[in-house]
Amino acid sequence: MRMYDLILKKRNGEELTTEEINYFIENYTQGNIPDYQVSALLMAIFFQKMTERETVDLTMAIVNSGDTLDLSKIEGIKVDKHSTGGVGDTTTLVLAPMVASLGIPVAKMSGRGLGHTGGTIDKLESFEGFSVEMSEDEFISNVNMHKIAVGGQTGVLAPADKKLYALRDVTATVDNISLIASSIMSKKIAAGADAIVLDVKVGDGAFMKTPEDAQALAEEMVKIGNGVGRETRAVISDMDQPLGFAIGNALEVKEAISTLKGEGPADLLELCLTLGSNMVVLAKKAEDLNQARKMLMDTISNGSALAKFKEFIDAQGGDSSFVDFPDKLPKAKYIIPVESDRDGVVEKINAQNMGLIAMELGAGRATKESEIDLAVGIVLSKKRGDKISKGDILAYVHANDVEKAEKAKQQIIKNFVISKNYINDIPLIYNIIK
Ligand code: URA
Ligand code: CA
Repeated sequence: MRMYDLILKKRNGEELTTEEINYFIENYTQGNIPDYQVSALLMAIFFQKMTERETVDLTMAIVNSGDTLDLSKIEGIKVDKHSTGGVGDTTTLVLAPMVASLGIPVAKMSGRGLGHTGGTIDKLESFEGFSVEMSEDEFISNVNMHKIAVGGQTGVLAPADKKLYALRDVTATVDNISLIASSIMSKKIAAGADAIVLDVKVGDGAFMKTPEDAQALAEEMVKIGNGVGRETRAVISDMDQPLGFAIGNALEVKEAISTLKGEGPADLLELCLTLGSNMVVLAKKAEDLNQARKMLMDTISNGSALAKFKEFIDAQGGDSSFVDFPDKLPKAKYIIPVESDRDGVVEKINAQNMGLIAMELGAGRATKESEIDLAVGIVLSKKRGDKISKGDILAYVHANDVEKAEKAKQQIIKNFVISKNYINDIPLIYNIIK
């Protein structure tokens, strides 16, 4: 087989065979095919697209390029949740203990990653002593005992994706549905989930800017998952404003704790109930979504989700008294209010820019080497549709540097669009696909 022929075939709009896709992924992973040929193939895929069969084959070839986790020693149906990425998305911290408290195993391999705020592991390190260092056996026994564990990445999962993603990033070939879908799904499948619930974000703070694009990506990923025997559902949710109020690591942990206490933001809770009820149904712990939702609401009202969260923090060496006394979590030196300079209604809060402002404050990593400041970030006081009078507080900046705080304040004001007569008509949940 020659890479040249694969490029030519795809350039001419033909379908690649399973063998051809396997050849390309295997040899690219091993370093036998140069980046310039793979770049050309990616561009051909971008223009000519891939069929559903090709996309499934690509996904499985990427899965097979590295290790796969064997979670078979964990009792029960392992349902994983994955978000395509948004701003201030605190759902994992809330959902995981809710679902685990119903006896559903949550075996999460997480990363630190790049972005506006840290990954789940960074956030959890807000609890003094918390650690993800454990062997695979410890990880499995933790899940069996507590129904929940968060581990650091072990093994090399989907190495082909790592190479492809980096190459797509510099060749303007990221935003192709087949390439995104295979990239995301290969990692979930390699991580050993029996069933998968996807949170596909739509809006300016997301990869997919329109509901149509989000729908197409969601359908493609659901087809891949179901096609390879991992039952998959996708929820399409709004990311045209940040989710909840908090953007920042310890700030989001605090928000998660309030939500588990039944005192959190309505949109965050609603999204957790929607994603969670689909997880509970896929785990076969409820007959239907209504029953699952009720079970999840009970985990909040009867305190079992909060208790599960503490049990989990304890089990991984963290100081769970922080849950009862959130003031012990990392705190910024300066907390500065941002006031509105006009009357009106909030029409939009630019999610993408809010994320970038939080990152500038130190909440996220711009490069792999950057250090995260767990304490800093933004806490919104107003959301889309809220009425505002001049002088009302729109948000608080949490900063450890006065100059950065002042800059963030100016930028936050600019990214609140306040108009005279706005009626909020953007839904939190657009659609659910199965
Ligand atoms: N997230 C991924 O993991 N892969 C993509 O291609 C896009 C978003
Ligand atoms: Ca949030």
